[in-house]
Amino acid sequence: MSGAIVMEARDVRRHYAVGGAFGRKGVVKAVDGVSFTLRAGETLAVVGESGCGKSTLARVATLLEPPSAGELWIDGKPTAGANGAQRRALRLAVQMVFQNPYGSLNPRKTLGATLAEPLAINRRGDRRAREAAVRAMMAKVGLRPEHVGRYPHMFSGGQRQRIAIARALMLNPRVLIADEPVSALDVSIQAQVLNLLMDLQDEFRVAYLFISHDLSVVRHIARDVLVMYLGRPVEHGPKEAIFARPRHPYTRILLAATPSVDRRHLHAAVVVRGELPSPLNPPAACAFETRCPFATAVCGQIRPELRAVDGRDVACHHAERVAASAAESVA
Ligand SMILES: Nc1ncnc2c1ncn2[C@@H]1O[C@H](COP(=O)(O)OP(=O)(O)OP(=O)(O)O)[C@@H](O)[C@H]1O
Ligand SMILES: [Mg+2]
Repeated sequence: MSGAIVMEARDVRRHYAVGGAFGRKGVVKAVDGVSFTLRAGETLAVVGESGCGKSTLARVATLLEPPSAGELWIDGKPTAGANGAQRRALRLAVQMVFQNPYGSLNPRKTLGATLAEPLAINRRGDRRAREAAVRAMMAKVGLRPEHVGRYPHMFSGGQRQRIAIARALMLNPRVLIADEPVSALDVSIQAQVLNLLMDLQDEFRVAYLFISHDLSVVRHIARDVLVMYLGRPVEHGPKEAIFARPRHPYTRILLAATPSVDRRHLHAAVVVRGELPSPLNPPAACAFETRCPFATAVCGQIRPELRAVDGRDVACHHAERVAASAAESVA
């Protein structure tokens, strides 16, 4: 049974005017035409290498920044044109967890005060009710009741991330945006926090927009995957289809570089060549053309739009060839 749509991005763009001081003026298209639908209780993972626009998309999705173009809908309501009270309600529906839980927790607030704060600010319940809610949430995220008076520095990295997750869930949001939530943790702790996130999702029916550069992490938690390259979506669809048979050369390269992923279907690893192009001056047609082992003349002339291929959407002129090809050696 699929849940209600809790977030929808329609061709969302976020462009920045940059430069001046060092002479080179221009526009960075940090997010350039992203669409997705997120349903209650589901997880969409956004993946791609550094600078592809993941955190920018997260800031737009949490209403920290408006889209330059396109639409963001939360819980069936458009975010554009919302008045003050409506914006506050929309903001409560979308909470965020960051990579570094130490930076996002107030060092002078105890665990109990940290978790009670969102309730107090939003005038939920009296002090007694808030304390009860804090204790219940602590139990749900695996924090011991006797630690309620401890300060952030007294917890381990994994425990601090549990605190950040608990705080984000205190007001029962519809969507949790998690930007590299386990990247700063040891691998053994990563698995614990991912399992916790999955348990909490079952319990709260909360949707996750889960941002990560690490496909081995995404494999555990995602239902759908959105692969971005230089601000643009290049492949988007169910995790199973994308992991088993990547259709975009970039996805294929990302997967081949992920040690824990089953590489039987990837044949020989394809090596990405060259540097990430400058975001100020990306290739005009296919953004991946300059690094792509499959590129032909058309890739430099016509921008590939997302199209349905083999159970997912892919923006590649050669999507059919990518899956069919066996070992592809690249100089
Ligand atoms: N406020 C801003 N002004 C100008 N350019 C920006 C701004 N924010 C982000 N960018 C640029 O937009 C692009 C995308 O950045 P973003 O931080 O979203 O990438 P990311 O995928 O989160 O990378 P990482 O994996 O390193 O966190 C980069 O080229 C970045 O330099
Ligand atoms: Mg980022």
